[in-house]
Amino acid sequence: MNKPLIKLNHLIHSLSVGIDLVSSGILRHHKNVALIALKIGNVIGLDKKELEVLFIASMLHDIGVVSQKERKLIEVYDSPRNYIHACEGYRILKSIPTFNDVAKVIRHHHDKWIGDNRIGTKEYEIPLASQIIFLADRVDILSKQKKYTHEATSIVIERIKESSGTLFNSELVDIFLDLAKSKSFWLDLKENFSDELLKELTPEIYTYSLDVVIDLCYAMAYVIDRKSPFTSKHSQRVATVARELSRLMGFSPSEQRQIFLAGLLHDIGKLAIPEEIINKPGALTKTEIDIIMSHTYYTYHILKHLKDFPGIEKWAAFHHEKLNGKGYPFGIDYHDMSVGARIMAVSDIFTALTEDRPYRKGMDESNVRKIMNQMASGGEIDQDITSLLLDNYNNFHHIVMSIEEFFSSIENRKNGRSSTIVELDSWEKLKLNFQ
Ligand SMILES: [Fe+2]
Ligand SMILES: [Fe+2]
Ligand SMILES: [Fe+2]
Repeated sequence: MNKPLIKLNHLIHSLSVGIDLVSSGILRHHKNVALIALKIGNVIGLDKKELEVLFIASMLHDIGVVSQKERKLIEVYDSPRNYIHACEGYRILKSIPTFNDVAKVIRHHHDKWIGDNRIGTKEYEIPLASQIIFLADRVDILSKQKKYTHEATSIVIERIKESSGTLFNSELVDIFLDLAKSKSFWLDLKENFSDELLKELTPEIYTYSLDVVIDLCYAMAYVIDRKSPFTSKHSQRVATVARELSRLMGFSPSEQRQIFLAGLLHDIGKLAIPEEIINKPGALTKTEIDIIMSHTYYTYHILKHLKDFPGIEKWAAFHHEKLNGKGYPFGIDYHDMSVGARIMAVSDIFTALTEDRPYRKGMDESNVRKIMNQMASGGEIDQDITSLLLDNYNNFHHIVMSIEEFFSSIENRKNGRSSTIVELDSWEKLKLNFQ
């Protein structure tokens, strides 16, 4: 019982890739910030717990950035408006009790050393990890072209030097300048080997609690859904419908939990889609449809690395595939669509039909029945799962309509928990069931 059970590192990696997708312009931003921050943290001699917080906060620090417009703003070296996404990131992560320290670090990750910050902090009042992340973050933003030639890195170094004692703690700048002298510091930031290096520098982070994993996925579902006011509860709804369907289909409680997690993250690839396309009120152009259709491809590749949840990418990312092979983006057919993937597809369609969209209102029961029955008889979605849902229409409709907003559901989630600790045995079983 005292053994650590769930390794969080892979989940943190996947979520950081998802956050990076908000702008395709700064891919690997979170990983690079983590790499620089951990190097500085190691020179200072931070202990394991401090490195853990530094790593998680680095990997998730821009979780509060909502739009690509806001993302553009953070590329401005010393924009005073960056406290907005820092505070939003704090608001999201402080809902997870285990992540309180991480949330605080994120709140201050754009605080200037000299003061003049909205939150009123200055110098040593700013958490050390926030100071480190701010410096690492600006280094990566300045190196946006990722060229790392002598000429390019000299410009970055000069700019950071100029800000020593004003934007940044000069002691940290000195450590950075020392590290940045070697060519390898910059080469490490190139794609080829940086994942490997990051792995070497990262402490292994374990949790006893599956609830921490669920809470993190809830937070991410909120980040995904807030891209559109029309789908602000979509991921939670799909997850809940899928869990109920899986229960009725006879899935074990642990499998039900797994499908719930897959549901929360099924649209994580949507973070790569510009909100102008997602929220477009009129008809989409062919190119826009093409862009939208790529989202499950991203979902698949982001979730593939979740080693603690083998197979989650298939349950989550096949929700636009069809049994007759006419879905997207992989074009697989009934041979490759497991029951879990079929449940997710039915849950997504039911939820989408009943929700309001920019171009139409949520549909009434007779239209939902008509469309879903047509899809089932046309060989697109599973007939048995569709019948199960439609036979319990009122129940499922109630489930979809009663989902609360992320922030108001936090307390209920906390209160409604029976057990927060998973026994090793059941966790191992849970992994097996998922394959
Ligand atoms: Fe930021
Ligand atoms: Fe950043
Ligand atoms: Fe989707």
